[in-house]
Amino acid sequence: MPDREPLGVIGAGWVGLVTAACFAELRHEVYCRDIVATKVEALKRGEVPIYEPGLAEMLERNQERLHFTTDMGDALSAAQLLFCCVDTPPTYSGDADLSRVEAVVEELGGSNDHALVMKSTVPVGTGRSIRRRQADLGYVSNPEFLKEGTAVSDFMHPDRVVVGTAEASSEFGDRVAALYQPLDAPIVRTDVASAEMIKLASNAFLATKISFINEIANVSEELGADVTEVARGMGLDERIGSQFLRAGIGYGGSCFPKDVSALKQLAGNSGYHFQLLTAVIEVNELQKRRTIGKLQKHLGSLVGKEIALLGVAFKPDTDDVREATSLVLAARLVSEGAHVRVYDPVATDRARELLKGVRICESALEALDGAHGAVLVTEWPEFRELDWKGEAKARMARPLLVDGRNFLDADLLRSAGFTYEGVGR
Ligand code: UGA
Repeated sequence: MPDREPLGVIGAGWVGLVTAACFAELRHEVYCRDIVATKVEALKRGEVPIYEPGLAEMLERNQERLHFTTDMGDALSAAQLLFCCVDTPPTYSGDADLSRVEAVVEELGGSNDHALVMKSTVPVGTGRSIRRRQADLGYVSNPEFLKEGTAVSDFMHPDRVVVGTAEASSEFGDRVAALYQPLDAPIVRTDVASAEMIKLASNAFLATKISFINEIANVSEELGADVTEVARGMGLDERIGSQFLRAGIGYGGSCFPKDVSALKQLAGNSGYHFQLLTAVIEVNELQKRRTIGKLQKHLGSLVGKEIALLGVAFKPDTDDVREATSLVLAARLVSEGAHVRVYDPVATDRARELLKGVRICESALEALDGAHGAVLVTEWPEFRELDWKGEAKARMARPLLVDGRNFLDADLLRSAGFTYEGVGR
């Protein structure tokens, strides 16, 4: 086994670029292949097509070890381990669309010199089905657990690394595990189906935690408890843990909505009705509606009302708007007859196409100007820095704030004369 073996990365999207950059940082030569020529050309010029903290610097620092190409042959001739990082978006039925993964498998053919290392999130059973068709090609399941906004640090400091192989002793599996040795994390060696399930079950469990705390928040609103206090008290129990107990207007992003529904669908396809996940999804949908209800509680009909949405990205530190709560809220508000204006420090360019009939603003103050109500959708730090007591309040037609992330200082806003609605407090 070569000391620092060269690696192939197929797909220069968010997972692929982070994977390529981090392996290059670990001193591997990395051959990163994408089918989109313009993207590859931009990457060769040093332009980074996504916003992820620390990524651009890492790519630049390691540019000598990073080789971007459109030609699969370049990756195949340089490397034996090929990390599959193409996306698996949801289909209309809620299943994962595997067409891009299938195209990669087609291209690799039955080579027995190479192993496909699956980082893309795939349904349980995908590895077995690929191996059935391409028995000679090595196969390792190595799911990613990266969070957008902290992906580089998550890669370099993982809680665990999962390596799934068909046989317990697998040379390709050993080689993949060895790549992560410098990161000093527990390495879970397991079978392929279990590795695939670890990924889906982890995301589904985290989403369940969020829907659970959101329901506790809703009940707390009725019963006079404060969900942030409840979460603090619960989270200190080590069996529960304090993370992913932030109540809000629901989870979004390219992973949770897709993976929860993919696991539910997968269970359904195998004849099992996954009741809990059905509820997790429904609670998440209802949470967005409750936000509209809070505006209506104070404004009555929303027809003709000016409503500001602060934040478009599905969470801070990313410009990703896939499955973002803001898009659903904006569409519902428009259908209620409201006039919607939005502001986000980085994500509005990506959202422009999706925000039909919505005014996109250049600053939070512009969005608040003349608004009858505002919803804080994404917890960008700059929203905390706003002069709420002074200029922000003065600009609004009515000082009504629905804080969808329990992010702002409720006492300060109330004492400044705002009608403040948090989530669960
Ligand atoms: C998620 C997982 O956290 C990663 O481990 C996983 O690798 C990734 O999906 C993936 O499958 O690729 P990500 O979607 O980047 O990562 O974002 P999270 O930070 O997990 O947040 C997801 C959503 O949950 C956001 O909308 C966030 O606002 C919401 N959330 C999160 C809450 O509403 N409450 C919380 O307490 C935490």
